[in-house]
Amino acid sequence: MERRQLLKSSLALLGTTTLISFVYPASKFLIPPKSNAKDAQVTLDKDQIPPGTAKEVIYNEIPLVIINRRGSGFIALSRVCTHLGCLVGYDSFNRKLVCPCHAGEFDLEGKVLTGPATKSLHRYPLKISSKQITIG
Ligand code: FES
Repeated sequence: MERRQLLKSSLALLGTTTLISFVYPASKFLIPPKSNAKDAQVTLDKDQIPPGTAKEVIYNEIPLVIINRRGSGFIALSRVCTHLGCLVGYDSFNRKLVCPCHAGEFDLEGKVLTGPATKSLHRYPLKISSKQITIG
């Protein structure tokens, strides 16, 4: 092999590896890996949520709040506000969900009480056994 040919081959190899070192991380950034969390179940012990309290969980990458309503039992609602997508929080003292962004308020069924939101919070079905609560 001539020197010139060897130099060309070396430069081609160097160029290819340099290109791959930029393209591979960029493709990993642009195409996120599939999440294993899809279709998973979230199971909690009922004891973790005494009456009048709530617990925040993530289900299929969606933030939810499970509320143990006094006299009405458990309910799972999306925490994503239907106005512009801020995360609502549970106000145990006033028994409602409050959005910090524009002061929207929802009752414990997820229905709009006040504020700019016009749609109810999305409700997720729960499976309730003697000791556990399961979403999914
Ligand atoms: S985002 Fe919740 S009230 Fe605007």
